[in-house]
Amino acid sequence: MSGPEPFLEVSSLSKRFGGLLAVSAYQVKLAKTEILGLMGPNGAGKTTVLNMLSGLDQASQGSIRFLGQALNGLPSHQVTRLGLARTFQNLRLFSEMTVLENVMAASFIQGPYTLLDTFFMTGRFRRGNRQLQESALNLLEDLGIADDRHMLAAKLPYGKQRRLEIARALATKPQLLLLDEPAAGMVQEEQQDLARLLQRLREQGLSLLVIDHNIAFLTSLCDRIQVMHHGELVAEGLPQEVIADPVVIEAYLGKELEL
Ligand SMILES: Nc1ncnc2c1ncn2[C@@H]1O[C@H](COP(=O)(O)OP(=O)(O)OP(=O)(O)O)[C@@H](O)[C@H]1O
Ligand SMILES: [Mg+2]
Repeated sequence: MSGPEPFLEVSSLSKRFGGLLAVSAYQVKLAKTEILGLMGPNGAGKTTVLNMLSGLDQASQGSIRFLGQALNGLPSHQVTRLGLARTFQNLRLFSEMTVLENVMAASFIQGPYTLLDTFFMTGRFRRGNRQLQESALNLLEDLGIADDRHMLAAKLPYGKQRRLEIARALATKPQLLLLDEPAAGMVQEEQQDLARLLQRLREQGLSLLVIDHNIAFLTSLCDRIQVMHHGELVAEGLPQEVIADPVVIEAYLGKELEL
């Protein structure tokens, strides 16, 4: 008997760059409101998985189904419209725009406007623009950076830039959010705040796939963790099981995983 189709179902996903098999037969089934962690040493293929899921890289092989639809071959803006958003390991903010403008620009793709609307500043655009501004401000408040709304993005401290990047992704109203090293460069207190924020988003119905090198952050946040090494999945399970797995410890050069 087959149950309902999973929220996200990925099978046999592979990516070849010339002679390098960067990702080999990656697979996952994700339930709604689940938080999945993806860890692994540098070069393991984690970002490449996210690039394929978000339509930035085309898979060499395999299938991606999200909310019952095949995502293979769709460009990233269409994937975003279907409810899948992401952040980048190397931030992609508009550094010469303010914090607020950054979020408004990201939510624009969800707006009901045509280019003519913006060109002639129609009533629909002006009303929509006010709504965009309001919802952008709400997001900034949720992320604790509303006080910085008029600051240029480039001037924000690094931890806040990471939060702005998340606000930009949330502005597209995703059902699934992919985060590539969201806690990188954050001090411990910021990491804990971020983990609490992500838990709160999950309680509001969001599903998350989170890459990070910080094991304490991932184990406290995630329901389940996958581990990649040399492009392959080498472990998957509950956080405490995964970090005690000898294969995982070996993948991290045999050193004890510190918590
Ligand atoms: N566009 C590309 N062209 C060629 N090789 C690439 C490309 N993108 C990634 N690779 C290679 O694919 C492998 C996997 O890279 P990827 O960025 O997915 O690793 P990662 O697990 O995210 O590593 P890190 O933890 O350092 O971010 C690496 O060997 C990398 O050099
Ligand atoms: Mg990466």
